[in-house]
Amino acid sequence: MKVGVLPDLPPAEPATPPDVARLQRTAAYPIEPLIMERWSPRAMSGEELASKEIMALFEAGRWAPSTYNEQEWRFLYARRGSKEWPLFFDLLVEANQAWCGNAALLCLIAAKKNLSQNGKPNPVHLFDCGNAFENIALQATAMKLVVHGMAGFDFEKARMALKIPEDFDVAAMFAAGRPADPETLPEELRQKEKPSDRKPLDQIICEGPFSFV
Ligand SMILES: Cc1cc2nc3c(=O)[nH]c(=O)nc-3n(C[C@H](O)[C@H](O)[C@H](O)COP(=O)(O)O)c2cc1C
Repeated sequence: MKVGVLPDLPPAEPATPPDVARLQRTAAYPIEPLIMERWSPRAMSGEELASKEIMALFEAGRWAPSTYNEQEWRFLYARRGSKEWPLFFDLLVEANQAWCGNAALLCLIAAKKNLSQNGKPNPVHLFDCGNAFENIALQATAMKLVVHGMAGFDFEKARMALKIPEDFDVAAMFAAGRPADPETLPEELRQKEKPSDRKPLDQIICEGPFSFV
């Protein structure tokens, strides 16, 4: 069953990333269109994001669920052109630097390791940060902005450069910005600039004990 598919006519405005995903992705069961519309483009215009837009992204992250409402996430960020920008940009592997130069924002998510109530290790601190990231990504999609998660950066260098204390883990980074025409990307990235598919449900769920082949 096709879900969230636009009518036959192409959109009158230039296709935005959510439009592109809606046209190219198929859900096996009906789900909220926003989930299908979120994907990870790399083409960004280099324009700034307004403070209000940036805060809306973090606000979305703030409302994510977490164990005991621990809210383990801490968002460290830099806007392009600021004095902090090189600190963040220099953490990225070359392959990510190749497209992040046009992002408006780079963010590192740090995760508090221990529970506030008893100081014991929190087994889901990174999981909870993932919840916050997904909220941010969905909010960005609704605002027709790009959010793209990244593991391709130097985690240890990040800890030192951004002065992240030992009781926090480095979870991940993401780039955010305004979408741009994929033609603006270097050739090899242009090829990859499309919403990806997913494994079929029967490969990722089983009723009862683990029984995947
Ligand atoms: C935690 C995390 C780390 C990722 N790291 C990178 C990265 O370093 N570079 C990159 O280009 N994409 C990265 N991605 C993007 C994934 O490749 C992408 O989310 C995945 O292929 C699914 O595609 P979609 O987000 O377009 O649906 C990352 C995504 C996540 C959530």
